[in-house]
Amino acid sequence: MVELLDTRRRPLRDLRISVTDRCNMRCRYCMPREVFGSDFAFLSKVDILTYEEIDRLVGLFVSLGVEKIRLSGGEPLLRKDLHELITMLAIRDVEIAMTTNGVLLPRYAPALSTAGLDRVTVSLDALDEATFAAITDSGHTVAAVLAGIEAADSVGLGPIKINAVVKKGVNEEEILDLVERFSSRNIATRFIEYMDVGTTNGWAMEDVVAADEIRTILSDLERLPSQYQGEVAKRYRLPQGGEVGLITSVTEPFCGDCTRARLSADGHLYTCLFASRGLDLLTPMREGATDDDLLALIESCWMARDDRYSEIRAEESPSRVRVEMSYIGG
Ligand code: GTP
Ligand code: 5AD
Ligand code: SF4
Ligand code: SF4
Repeated sequence: MVELLDTRRRPLRDLRISVTDRCNMRCRYCMPREVFGSDFAFLSKVDILTYEEIDRLVGLFVSLGVEKIRLSGGEPLLRKDLHELITMLAIRDVEIAMTTNGVLLPRYAPALSTAGLDRVTVSLDALDEATFAAITDSGHTVAAVLAGIEAADSVGLGPIKINAVVKKGVNEEEILDLVERFSSRNIATRFIEYMDVGTTNGWAMEDVVAADEIRTILSDLERLPSQYQGEVAKRYRLPQGGEVGLITSVTEPFCGDCTRARLSADGHLYTCLFASRGLDLLTPMREGATDDDLLALIESCWMARDDRYSEIRAEESPSRVRVEMSYIGG
């Protein structure tokens, strides 16, 4: 098989699938309530890919070189019977991971694990309840997320990772507490620079806590090698043992070996987290496209790919429309 490469010679290895654009939280940096309120037009059921359609597309992506599937949202566990999709995907030769806010894990972790989910990454930006409430703007609690992490751990959905977005003046003080809480348990916390994804979160450079500042706070980190080409997080060993990661999209971009494609819940293929537009696969699929037709569409989209938004952020127009993270998935 000839390897599929984009214009920057990057292969396609990682497919992130958003199974719903809905979420049970309203994190200020992702789904601010003023925008994502009760009158927001979320995708309707007929407009989102069925599990059979997702499974068919995954089969095609795997034939093009994809080795890892990440289910995301919105909050993926809001999609009904998600374990049924995992059962379908699990027969393929791919790793299946999921990014979740964790609060529904106590209910679903056993079925997810039985279905074949390999591991989860849980978003948790603060251990302090008041700080968490201010960030997530919902009735959910830190205690509920921690219960979700325990539930995942007890059914073997590991290695579990924690994603924490760091925003200036909001949760820098949580960094050491999160590390202390998780490092002794073989759970890596990954600190994510606050990004200008979408157009609704009011992002400003002065709200970003740069990776360098986070390294200073953590002190005495020992850099660990990447585990695979194109790994998102830079990994470090802590002096007390355990591991942390830094996701440095703003101050140290990593587009050079970005092997990630994203599929939205309504079946559009995006070749960058910061894209304005995606390639519609749902319509041709429902109009009777054959597997070869779909493969040709995906291949030509990837071969034309030139994205490296994080590297050229400063040259880009801030007014360009960018898709929302809740729609395209993390
Ligand atoms: P593993 O290494 O497989 O555990 O996963 P990962 O680090 O790729 O996964 P995860 O989805 O948890 O990524 C962490 C976060 O990094 C995401 O939620 C995004 O905020 C950010 N991120 C992931 N991929 C990209 C990317 O391609 N570009 C940018 N700018 N940010 C990304
Ligand atoms: N900047 C950085 N990370 C973000 N996430 C959502 N929005 C942003 C943003 N603007 C993170 C979530 C979750 C993952 C899917 O992406 O916290 O961990
Ligand atoms: Fe929901 Fe995750 Fe976005 Fe928060 S960051 S609103 S939990 S999708
Ligand atoms: Fe990949 Fe786009 Fe992120 Fe760069 S900004 S790493 S090209 S998704």
